Amino acid sequence: MSELEMELMRLHRLRFGGDGVAFAAPARVNLIGEHTDYTGGFVLPMAIGFRTVAVVSPRSDGRAVFYSGNYGEEASYEIAMMDKAPRGHWSDYPAGVLWSLRQEGIAVSTPSSKVPGAPGGNGFSMTLKGDVPLGAGLSSSASMEVATAMGLLSHAGVALPLERLATVCRRAENEYVGAKSGIMDQFIVAGGVAHRAMLLDTRSMEFELLPLPDAERVVICNSMVKHEVATGEYGDRRDEVEAGQAVIRRERPGVELLRDATLEDLEACREKMSAASFARCKHIITENARVMEAREALLAGDMEQFGALMVKAHASMRDDFAASCAEVDTLVEIAVRQPGCFGARITGGGFGGCTVNVVKEDMAEGFVAAVQREYEAATGIKADCFVCAPSDGALALAKVRAR
Ligand code: GLA
Repeated sequence: MSELEMELMRLHRLRFGGDGVAFAAPARVNLIGEHTDYTGGFVLPMAIGFRTVAVVSPRSDGRAVFYSGNYGEEASYEIAMMDKAPRGHWSDYPAGVLWSLRQEGIAVSTPSSKVPGAPGGNGFSMTLKGDVPLGAGLSSSASMEVATAMGLLSHAGVALPLERLATVCRRAENEYVGAKSGIMDQFIVAGGVAHRAMLLDTRSMEFELLPLPDAERVVICNSMVKHEVATGEYGDRRDEVEAGQAVIRRERPGVELLRDATLEDLEACREKMSAASFARCKHIITENARVMEAREALLAGDMEQFGALMVKAHASMRDDFAASCAEVDTLVEIAVRQPGCFGARITGGGFGGCTVNVVKEDMAEGFVAAVQREYEAATGIKADCFVCAPSDGALALAKVRAR
């Protein structure tokens, strides 16, 4: 058991007076395939070693009580009366998962009386805490959702397959929290596998696990510019994309989702959409092609080619998708100049957050020192950097535990 899990078990016992069962979910970084996951496209993320831990134990008053070790706050709900009622607060994530499971037909807890609102019944206490950097584009929200879902499913005595688990968590985020994200984050956080990146087809939900060479490291650099999916810019981009997709669907038979469209299809519709929609769709169409090329590069162990695709993907996020910012561009420019760096790009929703870099293992330490030094000299900001390896997702972590 990790230190965080042991700490949380202690915290849970102190607060709720009983032993609980612990579940952990990782964070994720996306190697390539950005903003493609809500138009049926391809993504290539991996799970990383940050964690959210959820400890759960039963209680007999029919209530759901969530305690956040990060915020030092408690939020409580009467399960039988559970409705969609976000509070604009950290507790919307776990409460949203509880609500979403109930939408799925999994009651999670049984009331002792058939009279709604009557006290009693089988409830639960849950303590949550994570070490995922917040607002960095590393999916602290999906990590919290999946850890919560694992705990609640165990409490309910139900197991869900990967796709349904990810869908339950995504519904919590889209419909309860109100952030219109795609499926990538919840899927990789739940289904990641150590030593592997995951190529996911977000239309068919088929995936392929791809090896990352041992001689390379994935380095994440945080620009320290905060990003949040729940705020406007992500939604604005999504609206522009969907407007463009609707035009192509209308004009070009055979195009259901942007994923089916070619640059030729897009060009043929140029006059019928805004310049913004054209540019956003161009990013997505070219990005889907880059993900497939990145797959080939990984299978061939060709990291030069993989890195070149990352650099192109960054330019596309910056110029066509308009989802980078000056600090992140500076971080990428500094990174690609360093010896041993194959490629660098913005990762996640954009508008700040982190870059992902592929670096030769024996150069990773020097890379981090140089990037931090040069970034601070250029912007006055101290960047946090993390040297990562692909980690297990929540399902694999729970299996290891059960052994
Ligand atoms: C956020 C969303 C994902 C995905 C990325 C961009 O992380 O949660 O679904 O759209 O942005 O690739």
